Amino acid sequence: MADRARVAVFISGTGSNMAALLYASKMPDCPYRIVLVASNNPQSPGLDLARAEGVATFSLSHRGMGRAEHDAAMDQAVLSAGANFIALAGYMRILSPDMVKRWEARMLNIHPSLLPKYPGLDTHARAIAAGDSHAGTSVHLVTDVLDGGELLGQVEVAITPTDTPQSLAARVLAAEHQLYPRVLASYVARGSDPRFLLRRIRNLALDLPETYERESHGSAGFRVGTEKSGKFFAYFSDRHHGTPYISLLVKCGSMDELENLVEAQPHIYHKPAYYGASGWIGIILNRADTDWDLVSDWLQRSWRAVAPARLTRLIDAADSF
Ligand code: GAR
Repeated sequence: MADRARVAVFISGTGSNMAALLYASKMPDCPYRIVLVASNNPQSPGLDLARAEGVATFSLSHRGMGRAEHDAAMDQAVLSAGANFIALAGYMRILSPDMVKRWEARMLNIHPSLLPKYPGLDTHARAIAAGDSHAGTSVHLVTDVLDGGELLGQVEVAITPTDTPQSLAARVLAAEHQLYPRVLASYVARGSDPRFLLRRIRNLALDLPETYERESHGSAGFRVGTEKSGKFFAYFSDRHHGTPYISLLVKCGSMDELENLVEAQPHIYHKPAYYGASGWIGIILNRADTDWDLVSDWLQRSWRAVAPARLTRLIDAADSF
């Protein structure tokens, strides 16, 4: 499959969730592959399994190291493996704010409770002690709030009258093995889902001053100015004219700049049919590691190129403060 997302998995122990992610990745059509298994515990049994399965591994004990220093070494291993996502799977370390920020929206975690209930440790004992009818597991994005980022999926697991924390943990683990691969697959696949990409572009484009959406030849287009005299500054193009690209078309400075960018970075830019000839460049969005800051910069630049002077003057005045 073209351009599968590259995932690094962080573990500290058994790694049964890592194994579930790995075996799911061997199914046809799985949109991700595991390119690295990394651990803060060189004795993690999960590392042996990863090696036996031919997956690259990295381990570095955190003992005697500062948190930021250890995270930086893990991060370096992830970058060397070319991963674009990190899946925490029983990684029993809190990450430094820097590391969390660097992987914002690209790092997932699985936690053995129905979040927001029972963040932290001893989740099964706490659910039993509280007399809950159900425990469960959650997959969420990692933010600087412990077990607190956006929830991506949950499975409930019934608590039986004879459950102990151990027996409950074993059943929750079985549920986790079903949940995590599915949630990870659908999360990484969002990057090639035109509805998701259009929503993101729409939010960025309509955030700029005096903009509105108008369809153009069956595509979503975005204009600046008044309804009557506004001008297009961006189009959303979904695999038009036989290209494999879902892309954002924006105004390029000159034909030279366009040709140079497409030649130098063909994984990011393309020259769209028809529009290319009039100076519109395509920024490819259906990639595993789309740089949304770059997309946002281009939208602003293109907006500025066609916006009426009364609007750009206002922005320039605001910028000079
Ligand atoms: C899993 O139950 C996971 O949810 C939990 O550790 C276990 C790891 O098992 N994670 C946490 O508690 C994170 N705070 P595994 O090593 O067999 O995947």
